[in-house]
Amino acid sequence: MKILFISSEVAPFAKTGGLGDVGGALPRALRAAGHDVRVVLPFYARVAEGNFDIQRAFGSLEHRLGPHRLSFSTLESTIPGTDVPVYFVHCPTLYGRRGIYTQDADEHLRFAMLGWGALRIAQQLRFAPDIVHVNDWQSALVPVTLRSVLAWDRLFEQTRTVLTLHNVGHQGTFGAHVLPELGLEAARDLFHQDQLAQGKLSFLLTGILHANAITTVSPTYAKEITTPEHGVGLDGFLRGRSDVLFGILNGIDDEVWNPRRDPYLRHHFSAGALAGKLRCSLELSEATGLPHRPGVPRIGIVSRLTWQKGLDLCFSVLPRLLARRDVQLVVLGSGEPKYEDFFARLARAAPRQVAFANKFSEPLAHLIEAGSDMFLMPSRYEPCGLNQMYSLAYGTPPIVHATGGLVDTVRLFDRRTGRGNGFVFEHFDEHGLWWALDYALSCFEDRAAWSRLVHNGMTEDFSWSHRVREYVDLYRKLVPGASS
Ligand code: ADP
Ligand code: GLC
Repeated sequence: MKILFISSEVAPFAKTGGLGDVGGALPRALRAAGHDVRVVLPFYARVAEGNFDIQRAFGSLEHRLGPHRLSFSTLESTIPGTDVPVYFVHCPTLYGRRGIYTQDADEHLRFAMLGWGALRIAQQLRFAPDIVHVNDWQSALVPVTLRSVLAWDRLFEQTRTVLTLHNVGHQGTFGAHVLPELGLEAARDLFHQDQLAQGKLSFLLTGILHANAITTVSPTYAKEITTPEHGVGLDGFLRGRSDVLFGILNGIDDEVWNPRRDPYLRHHFSAGALAGKLRCSLELSEATGLPHRPGVPRIGIVSRLTWQKGLDLCFSVLPRLLARRDVQLVVLGSGEPKYEDFFARLARAAPRQVAFANKFSEPLAHLIEAGSDMFLMPSRYEPCGLNQMYSLAYGTPPIVHATGGLVDTVRLFDRRTGRGNGFVFEHFDEHGLWWALDYALSCFEDRAAWSRLVHNGMTEDFSWSHRVREYVDLYRKLVPGASS
């Protein structure tokens, strides 16, 4: 099948979180399954700063979005280590800025242009996609575009659209006045009329209304988003489309996130040969300045520091834990000041126990997964979550709140039977978190039980090669005449 895959993040070119990982790994897996997949993302300033082999594909074109005349060209590369073509919408006016996402007044233009740019690149390539696969709000206007203002183009006559929801908490909602600037004025009737009447326009809702199918990144989250709590205002619309709403769990890219060959690690290991994990632990001590004390449990956190991640529970629990138990904590993350300040204070108060790296660092993220004993992820909600799967693969059992994809991937360890792969607390409160940490630390003291637990996680298969079949089956159901 021919698949045009559009995403605002594609690792290793541009990533702020799991969307980037999926944007790099799912196309690679589709290609490995024999499909012709082309990826499109913006040419952000940070892509230009990275050390990538990028060529010019097409010269400058002008694109009008209401009063704005935007000129863009197309650059091309491949996902490193693959032959998957990647096209970049090169529009310095919109993307030549520090961040991938901004609070700037033209954020709607930046991502309206991503969708348009991708479709115009397909036209230039004469690439007639069976499926256009869009991700999150940033590319969610593509389905309505194909149905309306591009309906004349026979190139897209057979094209069906899939919208994947990675996080319903981000909807791309702007004032209704942006409509004339999206290049979709002629499709005004296809936007949600009550919302427009209230003066708002949401990219994500528009995508939910017009995509041929909607997927989200875990079966549990697929159910949760049809409830008021996790649907964040979109639950009614999602219930209305439940016949085409599917939960497909993310996989992990086992070229990049695999302790046997992780390109960011100097020492490798596997379930049967764990010596390399100890060396990673020593290296993590050196990298963070924490004293190296094998046998003392070390808890890792790698996270965007936002409300979603549930770190508020740590405010009272972690100081208490550090005071009462001989444990270490290594935290990597950036985000909202209240969390950054909390971890910075914790590290200042207990420098022999806590290290906090307030930055984005791919190598350190890998080293924390490899060199910690357990991994903490108390998310309030979690559409899928990749870090808990990385932790399982790296012999670093996760401690998680029972929500979304965490429910689908982490099972509470039972010391008696030796079953389970991590620690799960049901109630999102301090008692829940305390209970899970306490239980995890007591299991850690029981070396035989711990080895079993580590082994259980490391021998599970979370790779994309299985998950990709679910996407392909869905594509086949949508494409007229494609047999399964
Ligand atoms: P989310 O997408 O909600 O942030 P996921 O668990 O799906 O959560 O994915 C997070 C991804 O982002 C992982 O690859 C994780 O290692 C990475 N990540 C998060 N914060 C940082 C950071 N400060 N430095 C490096 N990688 C990070
Ligand atoms: C989002 C979600 C996360 C998910 C990722 C990739 O960022 O917050 O749970 O794993 O997308 O789908």
